[in-house]
Amino acid sequence: MCGIVGILGSKPVAIDLIDALRRLEYRGYDSAGVATVENGHLERRRAEGKLRNLETRLSKEPLEGHTGIGHTRWATHGKPIERNAHPHMSDKVSVVHNGIIENYRDLKAELTAKGHTFASDTDTEAVVHLITDAMQHGCTPVEAVRRSLDRLAGAFALAIIFAGHDDLMIAARQGSPLAIGHGDGEMYLGSDAIALAPFTDRITYLDEGDWAVIKRRSLEIYDRSGKRVERPIVKSAASALLVDKGNHRHFMAKEIHEQPEVISHTLSNYLDMGEGRVNFPDLGVDLSQILRVSISACGTAYYAGLVGKYWIERYARIPVEIDVASEFRYREAPMSPGGLAVFVSQSGETADTLATLRYAKEHGQRIASIVNVRTSTIARESHAVLPILAGPEIGVASTKAFTCQLAVLACLAIALGRARGHIDTAKERELVQALVEVPRHISAMLRDEDKYVDLAHTLSKASDVIYLGRGINYPIALEGALKLKEISYIHAEGYAAGELKHGPIALIDEKVPVVVVTPADELFDKTISNMQEVAARGGQIVMISNADADHAGCKLAAYIPVPDAHPFTNPLIYAVPVQLMAYHTAVQMGTDVDQPRNLAKSVTVE
Ligand code: M6R
Repeated sequence: MCGIVGILGSKPVAIDLIDALRRLEYRGYDSAGVATVENGHLERRRAEGKLRNLETRLSKEPLEGHTGIGHTRWATHGKPIERNAHPHMSDKVSVVHNGIIENYRDLKAELTAKGHTFASDTDTEAVVHLITDAMQHGCTPVEAVRRSLDRLAGAFALAIIFAGHDDLMIAARQGSPLAIGHGDGEMYLGSDAIALAPFTDRITYLDEGDWAVIKRRSLEIYDRSGKRVERPIVKSAASALLVDKGNHRHFMAKEIHEQPEVISHTLSNYLDMGEGRVNFPDLGVDLSQILRVSISACGTAYYAGLVGKYWIERYARIPVEIDVASEFRYREAPMSPGGLAVFVSQSGETADTLATLRYAKEHGQRIASIVNVRTSTIARESHAVLPILAGPEIGVASTKAFTCQLAVLACLAIALGRARGHIDTAKERELVQALVEVPRHISAMLRDEDKYVDLAHTLSKASDVIYLGRGINYPIALEGALKLKEISYIHAEGYAAGELKHGPIALIDEKVPVVVVTPADELFDKTISNMQEVAARGGQIVMISNADADHAGCKLAAYIPVPDAHPFTNPLIYAVPVQLMAYHTAVQMGTDVDQPRNLAKSVTVE
């Protein structure tokens, strides 16, 4: 999703703006631009596509201003062409924006009637003309922004600079995050602290509804009502993090390979490995009294939640309701007070998940969030935060965040099961030991990647791929299909293996690879029967299993062996082969693995 940066510097800022934008590339974008205050007037450079195009433009037409804003745009209103790229500007003001101005049509009609001419198809440009209009009527920049903010509906983050004001930037946050960085006689602004890491680790996060008047040596923050407020300066850990690929060709590869280490790290936060016990943080409620759990999330995080449902229902015997957040938020689900509502989100900023959280809070639920970004809005609005500790995930396709989300959900299921009396000490030790062994099993699979390169030859030729799984491994089939379509652009769907004959089997012919996620668990024989139904219709079967290939009882196009593990932990382990399959297929197809087309890392619009 769009990325925002801003700098009030002591030297020309264009290069540093690009540097900061590069650190936001992981969010996904399709055009980029910067604007600076040049000898009192505003100048901008914009380019379609990647940041290197903008750099080329800047090398031919440099900007020298010491005050500037920059933007990576993920198109919502208007095609991803230069005319729609940010910054948008008038002769008085230049604006970058993340989010959606929902009432922009009304504003545009009103401003056009007053004589303003719009040059783009974006919602953002309404903000430019609104502020310009107020300034034309005698308002100072600060007053013009204050009045304009009152007119805007929707979720947004804004950064604004002004002609004739070299020491002024105004930022506003309503629904999309913003971090202000404190330098030495310089100030910075970014969509997150990672963008600002090369410049400073002293960060002030704006709260929902805040807007800020930023100068080189001062910062004034106002809340939604216009009252002056203080927000703390915190030390950001992002500075210490080098966002690079190490020895890997892509961030996604690096993140897949980091999984043994980061899962260990996550588990060590929630387990007492010596005692064989879960050491779960206090959620502020008596776990033994929880009668109902609801889980809400989007995309990959939703599939993690779906595994969580299987775990919690089976091991804690608590009914779990789960829905994708974009549906949950509008279906007016009845929620009797006293339930535990769990929100899963890597970024902690996903607009739909956040809206569902607020709905659940209004309906008296105890809110626990499973997030990677602890300073995120979802984390801050939760009663209890369960960090997944995966470190920054840069690849748009989620990998290590998924398995770390699973690790936390597994611990939550054990904690609930123990509290409700369904898991005794011996069973808890058994399940904890199973979790402790997960990193070792994943390491073993990661040592043997060659077979995925061969398999990618088959998958890259397919136009449709089907994934099948049963029980707790059904969400892994869904996740496998999502991973493949996200980064290789091959159409893929996941189905519950038992559903196959209720429709999807009509799709099977000899051109369709069918990936079957089938550990040798209690449902193995049933899945094998479904696999044979596929084989009988000529489908090319790819079997992922710890059972030997000859258990398939049919011809296989490929066999991916998986280590023997406790059935409880299979979702964590079987996630890795489906990630590797998607990754190697995308590499062979030459797609942009880390920033696949049309996708954003942090989805802050609904
Ligand atoms: O940041 P979140 O976990 O809330 O994001 C949710 C989804 O947008 C995300 O998982 C998406 O599906 C990924 N691209 C999957 O790889």
